[in-house]
Amino acid sequence: MRVEEFDGVIVGAGLSGLRTGLELSKEWNAAVISKVHPVRSHSGAAQGGINAALGNLPGSEDDTPRAHAFDTVKGSDYLADQNVVMFMTEEAPKIVLELESMGAPFSRLSSGLIAQRPFGGAGYPRTCFAGDRTGHALLHTLFEQCIRNGVKFYNEYFLVDLFKAEGRIGGLIALDMKSGELVSFRTPYVILATGGFGRVYKQSTNAVINTGDGNGAAFRLGVPMQDMEFVQIHPTTLYGTNILISEGARGEGGFLYNNKHERFMEKYAPNTMELAPRDIVSRSITTEILEGRGFENAYVHLDLTHLDDQKIKKKLPGIREICIYFAGIDPIEKPIPVHPGQHYSMGGIGTKFDSEYGETDLPGLYAIGECSCLSVHGANRLGGNSLLETSVFGRYVGRTLLMKEKSPVASLDSIEKAEKKTIEKIEELLKRWNSISGKNAVEIREKMGETMNKYLGVYRNEAGLKTALMVIQELQKEFARIELPTDDRKYNFGLIRGLELRNMLDIAEATATAALWRKESRGAHWRTDYPSRNDTDYLNHTMIYPGKDGMIIKTKPVKLGMFEIKERQY
Ligand code: FUM
Repeated sequence: MRVEEFDGVIVGAGLSGLRTGLELSKEWNAAVISKVHPVRSHSGAAQGGINAALGNLPGSEDDTPRAHAFDTVKGSDYLADQNVVMFMTEEAPKIVLELESMGAPFSRLSSGLIAQRPFGGAGYPRTCFAGDRTGHALLHTLFEQCIRNGVKFYNEYFLVDLFKAEGRIGGLIALDMKSGELVSFRTPYVILATGGFGRVYKQSTNAVINTGDGNGAAFRLGVPMQDMEFVQIHPTTLYGTNILISEGARGEGGFLYNNKHERFMEKYAPNTMELAPRDIVSRSITTEILEGRGFENAYVHLDLTHLDDQKIKKKLPGIREICIYFAGIDPIEKPIPVHPGQHYSMGGIGTKFDSEYGETDLPGLYAIGECSCLSVHGANRLGGNSLLETSVFGRYVGRTLLMKEKSPVASLDSIEKAEKKTIEKIEELLKRWNSISGKNAVEIREKMGETMNKYLGVYRNEAGLKTALMVIQELQKEFARIELPTDDRKYNFGLIRGLELRNMLDIAEATATAALWRKESRGAHWRTDYPSRNDTDYLNHTMIYPGKDGMIIKTKPVKLGMFEIKERQY
């Protein structure tokens, strides 16, 4: 087995991973491993923008990080940790200006300042953007900086398992997808930045690579998953494909209509209309469709036809292209058929919030970005805060680590033992998958996705959640008997899909377990059988741990104190 040694290893090469890699590589021998080439990471699909209280637009000069924090906390339905939110919003202007100085091609106002657009749930237009390809622009900017600064990449390496040594992280075992070889990366610091895991759902805006590989690996080591019941269903995905139609389209003035040509948001959020937070807009669209006011009982219209052609061409070119290529519709001329689809996970790998942001309960193991739950989004994320989170905490974790002891804390002997045990387990798993005539992993994945869509979407209830949990637990058993199409290890995507499914089933089970436990409605978690928020019993984070006889639920208090808890009104 090949062994590599580093001061720190980052898993994932999206914005979080690249920003951490850039920082760590200044002084440490650090590496970024990724299952795809970095610029194919899912951050590149982010469209609408990144929030910062710059106050660049006339009339928004009095925007502040505190106002940004207030909107974020209110948007989160008061479940976000307020100290972490405040940290993020205070860092936001510095981060955007830093990205600008690195060369990020932000769209501009005629004054030359960075342009900003209104986004859902925000009191000011504070979303900075690069047309409607903001993630793509930032990903390429950061990748260039990483190359310029000599960051070491291991592309097409798949994280199989993490291992502990002497009570802290000892490293990880990765599969080199090209050679099929298992490689041990020994390191006292692992930073998981593996992104979202939307592919647990059948209908999602997420790339097919978003399978929660970091989440699964951390969970198998006993690290809890936090707030997993809070899944963001984006209001506007292209009907039939679930490709994201950016909130930027509504930010630039798009209207939502039902089949009676009513701007139905008037009923649900009279003050903010189409720019209410995502959980509210998604529920509104779903209600319209369920009550028969959708088109073909399946979608509503997002209408941009009243906007100036040049505005669409300049500010929403990607959206226009997507509509033309995938739906045969030019949004300059016709409304876009949209319906809600899974987009983002507010929950993730639980991290500490009272000392250093980003470290998990396992010393040396960090998690940042969408795979983590730091918790800056609480029960519902505001659009534009995700790109922000990646950059703020990527830089912060990198800087924090540089202040630490570099040399491995665990002895070589204990690392070798842990490594050997982990490899043996993996080999045993692969041998079993290769030696039986068993279940097809694709069928299990399909069933899991359909179950998540059906029972863990916008509206949930006890009976549905119990069914979902039962089905997923059954799928877990079937998964133990999967059969791989071939035992060759070189570029064996059957094997990769099997390893991904191992992670996704745990994520699906944790999501259903937490959603069943939370008997209230808050943010994106809406229980038709408990339609009110219940701060007396549920103003806390859910922490899901692996257990011998099923998953274990614990809770953790929410960090409050800056903003008074109120009913959300928009
Ligand atoms: O709608 C969007 O452009 C998505 C932005 C986000 O998820 O932050």
